[in-house]
Order: sequence, then structure tokens, then C-alpha cells
Amino acid sequence: MNWNASFYDNSHAFVAKLGEGLLPLLNPQNDENILDLGCGTGDLTEKIAQSGAKVIGIDSSAKMIELAKAKFPNIDFRQLNAIDFELNQQFDAIFSNAVLHWILEKEKVIKQIYSHLINGGRLVAEFGGAENVEILTNALRKTLNEFGFTENSKINFWYFPTIGEYATELEKVGFRVIFAQHYDRPTELKGKDGIKDWLTMFGEKFFVGINKTEKENILNTLQKSLEEKLLINGVWQADYKRIRIIAIKN
Ligand code: BEZ
Repeated sequence: MNWNASFYDNSHAFVAKLGEGLLPLLNPQNDENILDLGCGTGDLTEKIAQSGAKVIGIDSSAKMIELAKAKFPNIDFRQLNAIDFELNQQFDAIFSNAVLHWILEKEKVIKQIYSHLINGGRLVAEFGGAENVEILTNALRKTLNEFGFTENSKINFWYFPTIGEYATELEKVGFRVIFAQHYDRPTELKGKDGIKDWLTMFGEKFFVGINKTEKENILNTLQKSLEEKLLINGVWQADYKRIRIIAIKN
């Protein structure tokens, strides 16, 4: 994924802000070794560090890591990919916010997480669950179809499992799932073009091969079509549905 790190940092700071709710579930302790998997521009990594834990942040995006290092020069950030990273260390906890739904190869990342935890170590993660942003993406697929982009309308690059599916994957490698929640989290998208901006940041792959003018037409039509369902009192609300999970390595 080729992220626009500063656009993400400025306009989509809500990703880290809303992820702060996951920190009490992590409950980081002084001197624990913690890995922040998919740390983005580092805001939550820094919050974890404030607890006195020794934290490493990894992200596959060079631009995100560059910005994270510039913002928090005292934290150890490294550009590494979740499915094949190798760190010469096992952690007390692995934390991950808003990342696991980007990885279709879920078995690989779960194995990586498991092998980088100490026995008794914990995974604390939040990501998109089944039906996440479904109103938004169903409308997008319909609009792409109406504009004649049938192939684009079928593209899928997110993994939004149910709790049952994800817990099963975790159990297969030896995790014990001690907490799981699948909850609605309507998410405010700022500005009058909230839907268009969100898709420009996160949904670029839907528009492969579509020229700029046509893309703009699609986005305008889509945004208009979503007013009834997602524009609430003049504020765009994306229909996020998240999973929070805590699992222990046995
Ligand atoms: C999410 O955080 O749930 C999410 C963000 C971007 C794209 C898809 C899902």
C-alpha cells in the first residue's frame, strides 16, 4: 500500500485517536517489551511508551516510518512487513490497531505474531469486522457498476472476519482467546467531502485504471447517493464495525 503519510497524519488522525480506547485493554506495564504492529505515524506507539514499556513500532510503509521517526525520535521504529518481519526478540505483548483488515494472508500474520510472543504473552488488536463499511462499499460497488466498471466493482482487498472466523484462526496456532467484541463504531468523516476523502485515502485500489475525471464523477455520484444513509445532521458517519480481541499464547 502506497500511503500518503502526511495526508493520513493530518486528515485521518481519528484512526489513532479512536484507537486510544484499545490501550486500556493492552494495559502496558513498566519495562514490558511491546511490539506495535502496523504503527502508522506512531501516535499510539508513543502512548504505549509513556507507560514505561519498551516499545518497537513496525510498519510496511517507508513514508509512515519516516514520519513516525520525525515525530518521536526517541522511539524505535522500523520499516518491516507484518507477514514476514523478523525481530530477534519475543515480546510480552503485541498491539495492533486498524491494521489486520489490510492483510488477506491472515494465517501468515497470525503465525508471525505467535512466534514473536513469549509464552503467556498477549495479542491485543482492533480491526474491521464482518460488515465493516458495508453501506459505503455496497454503494461504491453499485456506482462503479453503473459507470460500467464491472471489474473494479468486484475488487476486494480487505479482510473483515466474524469473531468466530478470527478466533478459530487464532486457536489453530495455539492462542487462547480471552476476550472478543464485535461492535458498531459509527465514525465521523470530517468535511463536506468526507466520503470522497476517505476513499481517496483508503480505497484507491477500487479505482485502478479509471481516469481522474471519471473517478471524480464516480465519487460525486456515490457521495450524493449516500446522503440519506450516512449524512447525519450534516456530518458524514462511516458505518464502521470493529472487532477487539485479546488472545494469549499458550
Ligand atoms: C477500518 O479501520 O475499519 C478501516 C479503515 C480503512 C479501510 C477499511 C477499514
